[in-house]
Amino acid sequence: MKLIVAYIKPEVLESVKRELDKHEVHRMSVSRAKGCGVSKGYVESYRGSKKEINLLPKVRLEIAVNDDFVDTTVKAIISAARTDEIGDGKIFVLPLEDCIRIRTGETGPDAIGGDSVHVKKKGE
Ligand SMILES: Nc1ncnc2c1ncn2[C@@H]1O[C@H](COP(=O)(O)OP(=O)(O)OP(=O)(O)O)[C@@H](O)[C@H]1O
Ligand SMILES: [Mg+2]
Repeated sequence: MKLIVAYIKPEVLESVKRELDKHEVHRMSVSRAKGCGVSKGYVESYRGSKKEINLLPKVRLEIAVNDDFVDTTVKAIISAARTDEIGDGKIFVLPLEDCIRIRTGETGPDAIGGDSVHVKKKGE
């Protein structure tokens, strides 16, 4: 299992999500981030204008996947996020120790993805 953490430009989030969806990666966490790469933000543009600030808005994606999904996920992010401009972002792939689905108690690879099993109805 791996945790894929990606920093991308906010304007590519929707197309990254679409691309991931196409490849059956549906579960993810998304949060706002601020960051800078090697350029320290100085020569990157944000919404068309060059910003003279160190930290530019980025989106942080966290996607926990089983090993056979790492390649697909990384490729999907790149294909939608790459503009060939500086500041396109970065993807980190981290080893992931465990995952627990709170509702069912499933652990490990079974808990990460797949179809959710049997949803309990009230009174069951
Ligand atoms: N080494 C790093 N550690 C943590 N976050 C990073 C690192 N490098 C980049 N990031 C995050 O990714 C965002 C985008 O980085 P960026 O694409 O500018 O990297 P870069 O190495 O400068 O590459 P480029 O030359 O394409 O701009 C940063 O704003 C930051 O949020
Ligand atoms: Mg940079």
